[in-house]
Formats: sequence, structure tokens, C-alpha cells
Amino acid sequence: MNAPAPAFSADTLRAALDGLLDGLPSRQATQAVERLIASYRGDTPTDAPILRDRADVVAYAAYRMPATFEAVRSALAAFAGAVPDWTPATHLDIGGGTGAATWAVGATWDGPRASTVLDWAEPALALGREIAAAEPALTGVRWQRARIGAAPTLESTDLVTVSYVLNELTAADRAALVEAAASAARAVLIVEPGTPDGYARVIEARDRLVAAGFRIAAPCPHSAACPIVPGTDWCHFSARVSRSSLHRRIKGGSLAWEDEKFSYVAATRLPAAPAAARVVRRPQLRKGQVLLDLCETEPALRRATVTKRHGDLYRAARDADWGDPWPPADTGQ
Ligand SMILES: C[S@@+](CC[C@H](N)C(=O)[O-])C[C@H]1O[C@@H](n2cnc3c(N)ncnc32)[C@H](O)[C@@H]1O
Repeated sequence: MNAPAPAFSADTLRAALDGLLDGLPSRQATQAVERLIASYRGDTPTDAPILRDRADVVAYAAYRMPATFEAVRSALAAFAGAVPDWTPATHLDIGGGTGAATWAVGATWDGPRASTVLDWAEPALALGREIAAAEPALTGVRWQRARIGAAPTLESTDLVTVSYVLNELTAADRAALVEAAASAARAVLIVEPGTPDGYARVIEARDRLVAAGFRIAAPCPHSAACPIVPGTDWCHFSARVSRSSLHRRIKGGSLAWEDEKFSYVAATRLPAAPAAARVVRRPQLRKGQVLLDLCETEPALRRATVTKRHGDLYRAARDADWGDPWPPADTGQ
């Protein structure tokens, strides 16, 4: 996706995360990641935090945070495109853990901003604060211990992010959280893994946000029901993540990157200009033509064939990426 100019570099985050592993023996780091993967494979929601101690959170931060950061950054880029004149002055990152979404907000919009990260895992908050010390724009972030339960009360804020959290809550707590976020915020971003279940949780949240009077700003070009027939497909996108040495050690292979698949919805009470259509699969390049799977305003899913005869539009289609708005503003379509 085309990201707006970053307010600060994601390299600062990567350097801070690499530094974390310096003090941790390689075997210990690998074991902590393996434990974490096993916990996340188990039944969630849990009654107690999965991230229990520093080894858990270092493993989470080194292994997952670069990917959740890139997914949220990519979703925020699409959202920012629909509200180009808006910058959130206050931000609440619910279930924010080590602060991936807070970093992504900072990488999307220049500050200053009053940001609060809420989480029930104290070790995650402590490590988040430590990592954020590397970025001057994030040193004022409040790291607050709080449990998301049946009746969350949230202070009013411009933007709420809920990234990779809904899966860890009961259905009732998920519903209560999304409703509380809709009451408290002018804009809400929900991000989940790009799986059929993650998409289902996103759609459920989307319906609640629309019922609360929000308009969908991204990825959907409309606020009507999603045109995907339940059970036949799932709307998701992909963000490229550089692999750390820890990733390579655990996953094997020598690829320098991997693709994080995610589903998301960004909704707002602000005036928003959603894309006319969005590319919802990786474009297929053929000789002299590009096949684009689009979600359109109608609302409907349609495959568009853009050929050389379309001139500028064809050139734009060759550059189009999965998740991009379509057509690009500069083709005059
Ligand atoms: C998978 S992590 C995601 C962290 C971060 N948002 C990100 O995108 O990297 C889920 C987070 O939700 C927090 N969490 C889960 N259930 C919670 C609850 N009931 N109350 C508060 N935090 C919770 C966990 O402690 C953890 O930090």
C-alpha cells in the first residue's frame, strides 16, 4: 500500500528490538518464542495474561511486534488516505502490549500527541516503555495497567486502536469493548490476523461500529454490508516485514522478509472520503493486461481487466498493490 511520509522511521523500532535480544542467550530467546507460539495455539481467551514475564515479552516484541506494527501501519495508511486533513491529537491503544500500534500511529502522523497504552500485562507495559525510550516522540506515552472486562469505561479520545486483541476476549467482552470504543472515540481501528476467524471478528466489530453511527473509512469503499458471502472467502491484506535474526533462527530459511496477513476496519464519525474501490487481492500481471480484484462502492466484488489500451490507467495498474485504493488519484479517472 502507498504509505504517507512516515513521521518517524520504523528503523528506530527495529534497532530497539534488535537491542533487546543482545542480553538474552539465544537458546532462552528461542524457548520463550516457542512457549509463546504454544500459548497462542491454545484456547483463548485466557483468564490471566499470556505475557507473564520479561522473557515472554521480549520474545513477543522480537518475534511478533515488527509484524503487528507493519500491519497497523498499513491499515492506518489506508485510513489516513480517507481523512487526509485529520491528525489525531489523542490516542488510546487498547490491549496495546508492547506498543506496536502506538509506534504505527507515530509513524503515520506527526505529533505532538497524548497517547495511552492500556494492557493487563505489566511486563508488556514495562518493556513497551523501555522500547519507546528509543523514540523521543514516544517518551510521553502513558503505560497503564487495566483489564478489559464486561463494562470497560474509556476516556474520550480522537483515536482508539485495538490490534490483535479481540481474539483474546470472550464474545461478550469483544462486543462491550467495541461499543465502549465507539462511545469514546472519533475514529476506531480494529486489526486482526488475516484468517477467516480474524475476518469474522472484524466484520462483527464493523457491524457494531456502523450501528453506533460510524462510517467505514477503510478498507471498504462503503458502509453497507460486506459483499463477501460468509464462509466463502475472507477480506485480508498483506504487509511486508523484514525478518530479524531471531525470526530466521526460529523459522529457518534465509528469506530477508515475510508477509504478515491481516484483516482490519477503520471507522469514524469524521467526514471521510473512502476509496472509490480497493484492490482486494494481489494483482495478476499478464502480457499486456493486469487483472484487478476490486471491492466497489455498489457494494460488489468485481474483476477488472486493465489493458494497454487504457494508457495511464494500465501503467497505474501495473504499479497497483494489494490493498491500494483504485483508481489512483493521479490518473484522473
Ligand atoms: C497479541 S497481543 C497484541 C499486542 C499489541 N496490540 C500488538 O498489536 O502487538 C494481545 C494483547 O492484549 C492484551 N490483553 C488480552 N486480554 C486482555 C484483557 N482482558 N485486558 C487487558 N489486556 C488484555 C495482552 O496482554 C496482550 O498484550
